[in-house]
Amino acid sequence: MQLQNDLLLRAARGEKTERTPVWLMRQAGRILPEYRAVRDSVSGFIELAQTPELAAEVTIQPVDILGVDAAIIFSDILVIPEAMGLPYEMVEKRGPWFPETVRSQTDLKKLRVADGENDLRYVMDAIQITKKNLKGRVPLIGFAGAPWTIFAYMVEGSGSKTFSKSREKLYRDPVFSHQLLQLITDSTINYLKAQIRAGADLVQIFDSWAGILGPKQYEEFSLRYISQICDAITEVPVTVFAKGAFFAREEMGKLNCETIGLDWNMGIAESRKLIGANKTLQGNLDPAALYGNEEQVRKATLDMLDEFKGSRHIANLGHGLYPDIDPEMVKIFVQTVKEFSKG
Ligand code: CP3
Repeated sequence: MQLQNDLLLRAARGEKTERTPVWLMRQAGRILPEYRAVRDSVSGFIELAQTPELAAEVTIQPVDILGVDAAIIFSDILVIPEAMGLPYEMVEKRGPWFPETVRSQTDLKKLRVADGENDLRYVMDAIQITKKNLKGRVPLIGFAGAPWTIFAYMVEGSGSKTFSKSREKLYRDPVFSHQLLQLITDSTINYLKAQIRAGADLVQIFDSWAGILGPKQYEEFSLRYISQICDAITEVPVTVFAKGAFFAREEMGKLNCETIGLDWNMGIAESRKLIGANKTLQGNLDPAALYGNEEQVRKATLDMLDEFKGSRHIANLGHGLYPDIDPEMVKIFVQTVKEFSKG
């Protein structure tokens, strides 16, 4: 189906647009009371994500309520370990938890390369229903975690401030680390390609824990695998968001992708210089700026637009929305981009 609003895709490819497209990381779920209502009708996050009709409904909510220029499929980056044979649980208020972890060759042997189409059928169904119900209003973003970020959860077994067990592995057992990272990469390529066949118009790779590696390790244990994914995905534009990887911006400019996401610690002019003119930049308002009042949110958004002006840009935050942000302030952010980025 022809898209009525394809600003996101044109901006990603570096084509001219009437205004800057805008969406927000973690726009589905989290802040909307309408999301809570749907979520409370099931046992929890996992059941919601695995019920395609409901996942499609909460995917479309931010398009209706916030007026964003893209939908992002409601799922989680941790469905990949599950499809590889390592199930997770989502513990209320504490986040993801894996009853088993992967720390030895014996653990590794129990895993398989995920086949996105079959192992993650519910995501593909949710994408197909979402595409049908969106009726071409806006593009649909598919996504996956970057191999390093997924590795960190699979080895650690949960979130962590330091991910020290995962980083220990990189030093003590680089062979094991590369084997696991390659398994995750192959699974991720299958998964993203299946999402694209199901209807995803653009895909984003989230490297949420990029910033806890040093530059050399980042190159060896993360970028190398992200690069394989970028080379494999030729069907739709690819966005790479590596939180905290300020030290890798120049290298990221060489990736075979269309868009690089910036977090709010990354200076805009400096990032443009390091990454070069041939990529679209996405971001990068500090999510905490949305705790301000109307006037402050408007000003922070205008300042950001001003800094990106004249170069390829997709407006977004520098990381996901925080759960206690007022949806009214998000609407002001979206409206401000729509009104003031014209021409
Ligand atoms: O962007 C969207 O709105 C689409 C859905 C989406 C979710 N997770 C749903 C979710 C996306 C894109 C993600 C990505 C994700 N998940 C990342 C990368 C982005 C980032 O924030 O850095 C990471 C690291 C995860 C892992 C994860 N999932 C954590 C740490 C948690 C717990 C804390 C939290 O973020 O809420 C989750 C749970 C999760 N994923 C929820 C949602 C809506 C909350 C679960 C609930 O409703 O109870």
